[in-house]
Amino acid sequence: MTVLSKTVPFVDLTIQHQPLQTAIEKAMETVVKRGDFVLGQALREFEREFAQACGVNYGVGVASGTDAIALGLQACGINEGDEVIVPANTFIATVIGVIKSGATPILVDCDPETALIDLNAAAKAITPQTKAIVPVHLYGQMVSPSQLLDFAQAYNLIIFEDAAQAHLAQREGYTAGSIGKAAAFSFYPSKNLGAFGNGGMLITSDEEVAQNVRTLRNYGAPSKYYHTQIGSNSRLDTLQAAILQVKLPHLSQWNQLRNQAAKKYDQGLQLLADKGIIPIQNVSDRGHVYHLYVIRVHDTCTLNREKLQDYLLERGIQTGIHYPIPCHLQPGYKELGYQLGDFPHAENLCNQILSLPMYPGISSEHTDWVIEQLSLRIS
Ligand SMILES: Cc1ncc(COP(=O)(O)O)c(C=O)c1O
Repeated sequence: MTVLSKTVPFVDLTIQHQPLQTAIEKAMETVVKRGDFVLGQALREFEREFAQACGVNYGVGVASGTDAIALGLQACGINEGDEVIVPANTFIATVIGVIKSGATPILVDCDPETALIDLNAAAKAITPQTKAIVPVHLYGQMVSPSQLLDFAQAYNLIIFEDAAQAHLAQREGYTAGSIGKAAAFSFYPSKNLGAFGNGGMLITSDEEVAQNVRTLRNYGAPSKYYHTQIGSNSRLDTLQAAILQVKLPHLSQWNQLRNQAAKKYDQGLQLLADKGIIPIQNVSDRGHVYHLYVIRVHDTCTLNREKLQDYLLERGIQTGIHYPIPCHLQPGYKELGYQLGDFPHAENLCNQILSLPMYPGISSEHTDWVIEQLSLRIS
């Protein structure tokens, strides 16, 4: 009989890295030998390979997902005075990216079941200054492409996807990052495709947008020592690209493993629905790549979210909250002029959500242990 480890980490990256260790070391050694650490061969290759995997023409590697949003929006022609719609319940980097592009973020509420941006609420936020919408494919689930395209067409907006949590997610025949004019990805280590440090990519099928980001990431220089814009220093390191190149062929399988683990949670937690434990709704079935598996702990539950989190930790189960404070209530963002009550669904979710352990290769013993412990305490 196997002895069950009572520690269930929130994320365990060693499972995916161990089998690839030799290949990764070799890829790194090749870069070191070549010495092309900045804008090198592995970066050019990985840009091509990642863009192709997402079904678009160009990829431009940058230093982070945040920079991919900021530089990407700028490259799409977004400027000071423009308004850009973003969900209130996203990681703050979405908002930072919009602000860094020079535009004003206009926050809107979300759907309480899927936690994805509510396009009806977005419609009410449109003004003559609205130039773009940044849908966030939150937790690994895409915002409906057909609804987004209709929405953008109705109001003549640019769609710029924040796909930082949704590498190779699918919905309605679209792959994340291929719906709109451009999209941003993050390769933060714990993302579905993660580097050994920070990294990001802007993808697009628009050659001009790609070229603009290449210039912006490289001191605003379209050619050496010739600076047409202020730009910044934001290249994805060749070493990181070489590591990501080794990992990319495994991404689909890792996403499938996440999806399978999520199905186990879904099934196991079904009986707890009438006790106030309800997973965030999956409306895209296998297209959901479950960067995070998130449940809601409703007011009707016998334990509140914090008590439940403490209880699970006592049993070795690490959890997270993504995210505990909505963007409009963050202290550094008071100047945006929002207040408590502006986005009730986003605010409510922030108080209810709990992310369970999720990573490719999480064992059935571990998911079963989580389900069992939750069921024991809640029933
Ligand atoms: C939704 C979302 N947008 C943007 C980012 C920013 O990416 P990065 O941390 O690489 O800057 C992240 C991740 O951190 C994210 O989760």
